[in-house]
Formats: sequence, structure tokens, C-alpha cells
Amino acid sequence: MAISVITNKNFIKEILEEAREIVNDPKANPIYSAPYLIIISAKDGHITRLEDTACIIENMSLKATDLEIGSCYIRGMFERFDKDARFIKKLNIEKNFYPVHGLILGYPKTELKGKNHKIKTNFID
Ligand SMILES: Cc1cc2nc3c(=O)[nH]c(=O)nc-3n(C[C@H](O)[C@H](O)[C@H](O)COP(=O)(O)O)c2cc1C
Repeated sequence: MAISVITNKNFIKEILEEAREIVNDPKANPIYSAPYLIIISAKDGHITRLEDTACIIENMSLKATDLEIGSCYIRGMFERFDKDARFIKKLNIEKNFYPVHGLILGYPKTELKGKNHKIKTNFID
């Protein structure tokens, strides 16, 4: 796995522009103008790359929430990129590693509030 923490605004813009080209929508904003972007990459075809990535992102999201920093898991944008996406070369990650998913971070405009999820749970004795 590889973690790329991107604080460079121009690079985030470049990634966003490339994503806009793919969906042919110059106004698409899949990262909601967030100021920080973390990309988790994995070795090509690694069998548990999705699970590994999700675990890392969940841990980062929990810590961000603890620090009162807003975060959002970003899957959609990354799943549209091909292996030859221009920005990948600039991530400076190992050969044969490719972005899986990402996490955006930023200070929220309003207070963070969790939802009261109700997931049906069965107890089988
Ligand atoms: C695996 C995964 C991928 C997600 N990808 C995106 C995404 O690409 N864009 C987005 O806006 N939110 C994405 N989310 C966030 C969800 O849409 C949702 O806001 C988040 O899971 C919180 O759920 P809740 O609002 O029901 O608590 C993703 C969440 C997960 C778990």
C-alpha cells in the first residue's frame, strides 16, 4: 500500500481537471473543493486492495472526526481513472502501484453530526 498526502492546491486542481475530462463535465466537483486529498494506492491486482484501502480510510476518517476535521471517502472519482492517468506519475509511488480510493479533508462549515444508523442485527443463539 502507499499513502499520498496532497496539500498542493495546484496538484489537487490537476487531478480534478483530469477527472472532469473523463466525465466530460467541466463543472464536476467530485471532491467538493476540499483543500486536502489523501490517495491510497495498492499494487496492481492485489487481492485485498479494496478492503485494505477501506480500512486505512476508515481509520483516517475516525481520527479526523476526533480532531473535528471533516472528511469524505472518495471512491467514484478514482474508479474512473485508467492506469495511464497523468497524475499517477506525479504521485511518486512504486512501479505497478495504482490509486484505489481517496479521502478528502477540510474544516467543516457547520458542526459535524453523526447519523443514528439503524442496521438490522440478528442474534442467533
Ligand atoms: C466505500 C465508500 C465509498 C464512498 N465513495 C464516495 C464518493 O465517491 N463520493 C462521495 O461523495 N461519498 C462517498 N462515500 C461516502 C458516502 O456517500 C457516505 O456519505 C458516507 O459513507 C457516510 O454515510 P452516512 O451519511 O450514511 O453516515 C463513500 C463511502 C464509502 C464507505
